[in-house]
Amino acid sequence: RIAGPCSLVIFGVTGDLSKKKLIPAVYDLANRGLLPAGFGLVGFGRRGWSNEEFAEFIKQNIIDHARTPFNESTWEYLKGGIRFVQGTFDDADSFKRLSDTVSELDEVRGTQGNHAFYMSIPPRDFPTVSRQLADSGLAKSTEGAWRRVIIEKPFGHDLESAQELDRVVSEVFDPESVFRIDHYLGKETVQNLLALRFANMMFEPVWNSNYVDHVQITMAEDIGIGTRAGYFSGIGIARDVIQNHLLQLMALTAMEEPVSFSAKDLVAEKIKVLSAVRLPEDLGAHTARGQYAEGWQGAEKVNGFLDEQGIEKDDKTETYAAVRLDIDTRRWAGVPFYLRSGKRLGKRVTEIAVVFKHAPHLPFEDTATSELGNNAIVIRVQPDEGITMRFGSKVPGTAMEVRDVNMDFNYGNAFTEQSPEAYERLILDVLLGEPPLFPTTREVELSWKILDPIEKFWATQPQPQPYRSGTWGPQEADDMLARDGRVWRLP
Ligand code: BG6
Repeated sequence: RIAGPCSLVIFGVTGDLSKKKLIPAVYDLANRGLLPAGFGLVGFGRRGWSNEEFAEFIKQNIIDHARTPFNESTWEYLKGGIRFVQGTFDDADSFKRLSDTVSELDEVRGTQGNHAFYMSIPPRDFPTVSRQLADSGLAKSTEGAWRRVIIEKPFGHDLESAQELDRVVSEVFDPESVFRIDHYLGKETVQNLLALRFANMMFEPVWNSNYVDHVQITMAEDIGIGTRAGYFSGIGIARDVIQNHLLQLMALTAMEEPVSFSAKDLVAEKIKVLSAVRLPEDLGAHTARGQYAEGWQGAEKVNGFLDEQGIEKDDKTETYAAVRLDIDTRRWAGVPFYLRSGKRLGKRVTEIAVVFKHAPHLPFEDTATSELGNNAIVIRVQPDEGITMRFGSKVPGTAMEVRDVNMDFNYGNAFTEQSPEAYERLILDVLLGEPPLFPTTREVELSWKILDPIEKFWATQPQPQPYRSGTWGPQEADDMLARDGRVWRLP
């Protein structure tokens, strides 16, 4: 579907997210013909740019980062609606100029009073910007003209701060016009998890504690913190990605079939899962933390976290975290969900592995099955998008020997269509006013309720255990699974 007439206003337009994801996504949407003729793109920032200079900045980032090739006619179309408003967040006049600019777009581009505001800015600035938008009359939808706000994570750093943030945002915006971004929900493979489970017959019957031994959700990155010391220090990987991306993946993996795919029905099921999560009693035994030390990433020697620019030598922030969660429902009783994420691990990979119990009886000699592991269904979220099924197969030969094999479904081979980037999908959904792929306040709160006690416990612990860059994390994480008689999968 094509979005109706509107503009997208980006706060924090010169930031990394905007340059690498938002601007390219807008362009790719335009190139795919999914934006309306009446479309405006407005940047708000401190630089003293003219509209033309801002357009040059946009063009450069399209050339550098867009997925579809640069096309002159798409560019000419976009350029006609590009505006820059120079201003600061605490200055009411700046917001007056913003208001004039979007009104001008309404007139000359026909954006019809429909405007979405993208807060690609630190959470500490949300309240100021929200109030300025309210004071300048930009925040509330009116009859026939909508206003929406898009909020980037982090939604706070614990339950209390998230609630405070929410209070400010809900004073200013109507609840149905607030879109919280969790870009993992925009990923094609994450949506395919729902297709896999609910469009097929053969997976659901075994998707429960009768057959499943445990589930491992892994989000591994090979990069370090790069230039994000200011953001990452004191926050850590658990708040950065477990609280949001990984708990959302867990909810989608564990939830019951929703009545429909409307936001309301989908959210109802995810909330049930998040509400049923039980933390381990012994957090020391069933969670693990680590911090990357120097090491090798491919052929490159890389610094340890404590030697990264902007990080103090005694920084206790974790760059690796693993937690065991249980879900107290009939379907999942006794099936642990292990969530782990880390920077500077062996490679960049995100996957959900549903690991099955062993067959109750094997009519073979012990030696014939010595290389037989657990069956597994692995949803490969990225980068090699697809699904792997792992099962035992007879090794060719005269002996009855059984060994694990993989059967792969690969997006690239199965479809000629190109997957849209997560941000393309999500921005389009905001412009269309379709909320199913955006977490609600309740989900955000429940996720903090899960993480807060773990963070509190970690705060009482000494320095996270170091692990060499390029490996699969600290020994503590292996010990954590070994205590349960299990091992981490090597993705
Ligand atoms: C972001 C985190 O939400 O996700 C980053 O803040 C992380 O720390 C990023 O690098 C990873 O996203 P993706 O889509 O590359 O897996």
